[in-house]
Amino acid sequence: MSEGRYLINQDLNRPFPQAARGEGLYLYDRQGKRYIDGCSGALVANCGHGVAEIPRAMTAQAESLAYVYRFHFSSPLAEELAGRYCHLTDRPMARAYFTNSGSEAVEAAVKLARARHLAAGESDRYKIISRWQSYHGITMGALSWSGFTARRADYQPYLNDFVHLPPAYCYRCWFGRRPDTCGLECALALETAILTEGPSTVSAFLAEPVVGSALGAAHPPAGYFQVIRDICDRHGVLFIAEEVMTGAGRTGGTFFASDHFPGRPNLITFGKGAGAGYYPLSGVLIDPETADALVSGRGGFSAGQSYSGHPVGMAAGLAVLDYMDKHDLTARAASMGQYLGQRLKTLLDHPSVGDVRGLGLMWGLEFVRDKTTRETFDPARQFHLRLYRAALENGVIFLPSGGCDRGRAGDLALFGPPLIITREQIDDMVEGFGQALSRVESEFGVQAGRPAPHVHRSFPSSGLGTPHGLETSKRRLNC
Ligand SMILES: Cc1ncc(COP(=O)(O)O)c(C=O)c1O
Repeated sequence: MSEGRYLINQDLNRPFPQAARGEGLYLYDRQGKRYIDGCSGALVANCGHGVAEIPRAMTAQAESLAYVYRFHFSSPLAEELAGRYCHLTDRPMARAYFTNSGSEAVEAAVKLARARHLAAGESDRYKIISRWQSYHGITMGALSWSGFTARRADYQPYLNDFVHLPPAYCYRCWFGRRPDTCGLECALALETAILTEGPSTVSAFLAEPVVGSALGAAHPPAGYFQVIRDICDRHGVLFIAEEVMTGAGRTGGTFFASDHFPGRPNLITFGKGAGAGYYPLSGVLIDPETADALVSGRGGFSAGQSYSGHPVGMAAGLAVLDYMDKHDLTARAASMGQYLGQRLKTLLDHPSVGDVRGLGLMWGLEFVRDKTTRETFDPARQFHLRLYRAALENGVIFLPSGGCDRGRAGDLALFGPPLIITREQIDDMVEGFGQALSRVESEFGVQAGRPAPHVHRSFPSSGLGTPHGLETSKRRLNC
């Protein structure tokens, strides 16, 4: 009787679907319609839906010890999970700290970086440098460091003014380069920013190894993170690899995406796939030098919350790791990811698909009105949302987003299915999505060999024009 009246749903202007059950790759709504979860929710449900052993482990823990406050106790499972996490990287970390959402993990990482500087007597170091077209969470600190214009816009008055660099975004390089002329200006911009801000004031550089919803799985050109590491080392700046989305095997072959790149991060955030949807588990991994500073400094870290290291969350985290090991999900993400990439690239035959990019089981498609000029669709028409609804009708779910072209336009689809997906399921998913795409392309008047007709464009598509929602920190673009 109260349906749609009390709950704040994502869309308050139309009936919102209600999920009733999940099993493997699939979600079922109350009417029994089946959906392929092509994005693990928000790239969270890495082990798939309805895995019985994970809630079983959580129930056993809740029955023996549901809660302890981190100020009074740790727990055997918390100690065990911290140890296992520290050894999930090729270059082992020294300590782990647990939180309950990706946003909190990012905020904790920034505070841990600050703690290291305070221990070294460098109390002037507090600035965080991050990038445009990035997303680090919705709490005010994490949103300040995020470079996702649409998500920042409404809350701009509450955000802190930190520097954002141009993204590592080869399809629309902000420096006008092509892959064959790339001089890694997007990485070198970090040094300019550090120098102009004052090296002794900069605490850390924060970046997603592969960008999630803000850039649809765009990953940096070769050599990017080595340049970043060298610049950080030259100036005593810490590097935080923001792996809330890319951790937990998502990018295939390694548990963390940063292991694909040279140079160890000082701090690594994780979340999403860590609890795989069974518990909101997240946290930060801490390198040996930062860990030593915590011991020699305050001798602790006081920025925790009531539910940090929750025993049931620890049980979930361990059960997720066991499940991932048992089914070799990190390796599977590499092999199935390769196949998913091949299948998605067949969609480049569609007139609106400008780019297909990704790593492991994290793939993005970027849609354009004109493939030659890479001109975007009119943002007011929200191509990505229309496509989302069309695919949903076909029973395929992906993550849509807009604004990749400097915050003002651009349409993306992000795929990141559970790591258990099979080749046949990938075929079904791409088939259903492709059919929806054809429908939407004809609605938008896109035809092979011809750009879609102009309806209305609010902004020019190229050049560093004045983007919508230009924030004060963008003045300080160091490019
Ligand atoms: C890279 C990244 N960092 C942080 C977050 C925030 O995580 P949460 O929504 O769990 O707070 C997200 C969420 O999408 C993310 O993709």
